[in-house]
Amino acid sequence: MSESTSAIEVCIAGTGSYVPERVLTNEELSAMVDTSDEWIVTRTGIRERRIAAADEFTSHMGSKAALRALEQAGMQAGEIELIVVATITPDTPTPATACHIQAQIGASKAVAFDISAACSGFLYAMKICKRLISDGAFKNALIIGAEKLSSVTNWEDRGTCVLFGDGAGAAVLRRAEPGEGSIVATEMGTDGTLTHLLEIPGGGSALPITADNANDHLQTLTMQGKEVFKIAVTRMKEAAEKVIERAGWKAEDIACVIPHQANLRIIDAIADRLAVPNDRVFVNLHKYGNTSAAAVAIALDEANRSGAFKRGDHIVLVVFGAGLTWAAAAVRW
Ligand code: UT7
Repeated sequence: MSESTSAIEVCIAGTGSYVPERVLTNEELSAMVDTSDEWIVTRTGIRERRIAAADEFTSHMGSKAALRALEQAGMQAGEIELIVVATITPDTPTPATACHIQAQIGASKAVAFDISAACSGFLYAMKICKRLISDGAFKNALIIGAEKLSSVTNWEDRGTCVLFGDGAGAAVLRRAEPGEGSIVATEMGTDGTLTHLLEIPGGGSALPITADNANDHLQTLTMQGKEVFKIAVTRMKEAAEKVIERAGWKAEDIACVIPHQANLRIIDAIADRLAVPNDRVFVNLHKYGNTSAAAVAIALDEANRSGAFKRGDHIVLVVFGAGLTWAAAAVRW
């Protein structure tokens, strides 16, 4: 799905992120399941991930990331008009995690709701909020990607438990003043015929958890990794190319590509296909693993705060996840 141009430009005024303190290393995982640091690093690039405490929920991590984004934007929570949280690990099935965050940070004026688009959720939220701001419905929005994937991980399945981690990232979007940056182009896509490749099969209305199936790991993530890998490379490349073309940029104009952080081999393949040198592609998955909706949001914040790009630079964000879903955004910083 593409977009038409709109009169009001929307900029990213601030970014923030938060990861839990507890580090879970590849060595520790090797003592839990039949795996090794060598396998995990070679096949994925992941060296360690963060695990939230038992009493640390998705909303808590999201609130911390949000407050850091607000601080960088020079705004108070009370000024925020809209909060959209992308997550597949909400605190509670209902109400939305966005409502918990609204209360925790004191954003009493904000309308708040969640979206479920797995790893693509943060860029889905960016597009939705950009449009709602540019249409004049809201002056600003806080978008948050937050996940406690450790709560939906099967710790006995070596095929998945080495991949995931917990964390949150956030960004404040608002109307841009003349001369400020803007979200130039966005793209989203979905293929609902491939839901079975990456899913949490139980715990919903299709397969409720009962006393009989409670020990069957139905509420944990399952993935057909090889299939997902191939489609991820194709779809992310296409989505990135679309926003680059729509923005009127060339590969050499791009200061930084910020991809979903699932697998270093996927990231390298996309950089290669887009003809963007590896030193312009931001990677932090060695520290955090795959944090689903939070991954690109944390990466955006770390890239921003580490000086990977400066005002006026062209950056491209691109993501892929369950659904299957994918999305991209071209942003003039
Ligand atoms: O965030 C949403 C999007 N997600 C993604 O984009 C993830 C995409 N997929 C991937 O990143 C990769 O497919 C994985 C990292 C999940 C797996 O890598 P792979 O190179 O596709 O490995 P594989 O699943 O084909 O497994 C190769 C071998 C198998 O053994 P055999 O059948 O060749 O004897 C697995 O049983 O590696 C084995 N294996 C492991 N060995 C040690 C699978 N997991 C592990 C493990 N440690 N943790």
